[in-house]
Amino acid sequence: MTSPATLEFAETDLDLLPAATGRVVVIVTPSGKLDQGARRVNRLTRGALERFAESEDFAKMKEGDARDLAYPTGLAAEAVQVVKLDRRPDADLARRAGVAIGRAARGKDVLVLGNLQKNGAELALGAVLRAYAYTDQKTSRDDDNGEDEDKGPGRITIMGTRPDEARKAAAHVSALAEGVFFARDLVSAPANVLTTTAFADQLSALSKLGAKVRVMDEPELEKLGMRTLLAVGQGSDSPSKVVVIEWNGGGKEHPIALVGKGVVFDTGGISLKPAGGMEDMTMDMGGAGTVAGVMKALALRKAKANVVGLVGLVENMPDARAQRPGDVVKSMKGDTVEVINTDAEGRLVLCDVMWYAQDEFSPVAMIDLATLTGAIIIGLGHENAGVFSNDDSLCDDFLDAARAEGEGAWRMPLGEAYDRQLKSQIADMKNVGGRPAGSITAAQFLQRFVKEDTPWIHLDVAGVASVKAESPYAPKGATGWGVLALNRLIADRFETKDGG
Ligand code: BES
Ligand code: MN
Ligand code: ZN
Repeated sequence: MTSPATLEFAETDLDLLPAATGRVVVIVTPSGKLDQGARRVNRLTRGALERFAESEDFAKMKEGDARDLAYPTGLAAEAVQVVKLDRRPDADLARRAGVAIGRAARGKDVLVLGNLQKNGAELALGAVLRAYAYTDQKTSRDDDNGEDEDKGPGRITIMGTRPDEARKAAAHVSALAEGVFFARDLVSAPANVLTTTAFADQLSALSKLGAKVRVMDEPELEKLGMRTLLAVGQGSDSPSKVVVIEWNGGGKEHPIALVGKGVVFDTGGISLKPAGGMEDMTMDMGGAGTVAGVMKALALRKAKANVVGLVGLVENMPDARAQRPGDVVKSMKGDTVEVINTDAEGRLVLCDVMWYAQDEFSPVAMIDLATLTGAIIIGLGHENAGVFSNDDSLCDDFLDAARAEGEGAWRMPLGEAYDRQLKSQIADMKNVGGRPAGSITAAQFLQRFVKEDTPWIHLDVAGVASVKAESPYAPKGATGWGVLALNRLIADRFETKDGG
């Protein structure tokens, strides 16, 4: 488990500065103004900071950017990191500056001089989120070869004039970061480590935070009639499971349901995937990982909302018992599906869990997340998740939340003509709709399992759950995409406001 950096807020004491080890961060305004802390650093370094603030290099920097002055004279610190930022920055600039701080930290302790007059919590969140590294499978963290390998977090101390206020404003930062890190750790874990059982165990541990967790095993799923989900997992030695996590922080209202695809490994099944890149399919539980991360964040910050997270945990393997192309299976809803391609397994998992979620909870809204299609990567790349919805108001609120959090999201269409691509000769539907509009026909398949009056969003996160380059808040690899946006959507649209 990766814990976020310890975040501390301290009263300004510049006499501690010369002996501070690790990294020292100073904030210089775009017009080159040094605050009290920066002036002291300038004096200790015999004017180095002022020279930099007056340089062409500094002029060329964008707001929110940062540069290192390495091994400065007069300080024990390894570097003074100069952040170009207004004292009252916008939220996204403050967070960008924080990301630059967290990115450079690489396991070292960081002392930030001067808290901002606005959005200091955003800077802290950016720093904490970016200072992530998945090290669970490394036996030693000392073999750094000098490459720009990411390291886990050290301690981040923010010195300012009103540390109590700053600490209060940043109260939610650790909860969010723990949620995001939980999602990233789950996505990063290899499939022999994160089996369906191990995943369920990790979710069960959320009960320690006050969530109600229930693990449903194969016999129970069989009894419920979740045949399409069970068919996906029947070729694996790892038992299929559905885990239900309830966070009841609200009143008597029905919950919002979050449903996640949790395919711990996707070989494609009998419709086997090619070898090249198949190892990436350890991330095919990214939707479930984000659901887990959101539930953890909500529990940690004691959200005043009712939210239920449901994940379908299966492994898609080829085997003598595996389902074959051409099989017809019956969903919990009662509709039959002709399985043309066993590699289109995510929708078979989700449709049963989504039906169960509506049957059991009559949710006020349902949002599913899935690494569902390669086609969404062709369409949107790694910058945006695909957003599909039957409800404009809910969808707009989600898009607003994603934009505010800097998590890329782009709405895609749905429509009857696409739905017709799923027509089957012998069953109620096929599980694939052919090559054209592959992400949309996948969404159409899911919509067949959404009740008329359930406001619903489907998020295809195949392109954003794990990426091969750095993303806005994370080093390359798992991103935890969606934890922040969903947390904000819940806070803005569903949470009981204080006194209300
Ligand atoms: N898990 C994959 C989708 C995926 C692809 C996720 C790349 C992340 C990165 C999904 O189960 C799948 O195999 N989809 C097929 C559907 C096709 C058979 C209709 C695909 O996209 O090729
Ligand atoms: Mn697949
Ligand atoms: Zn898959």
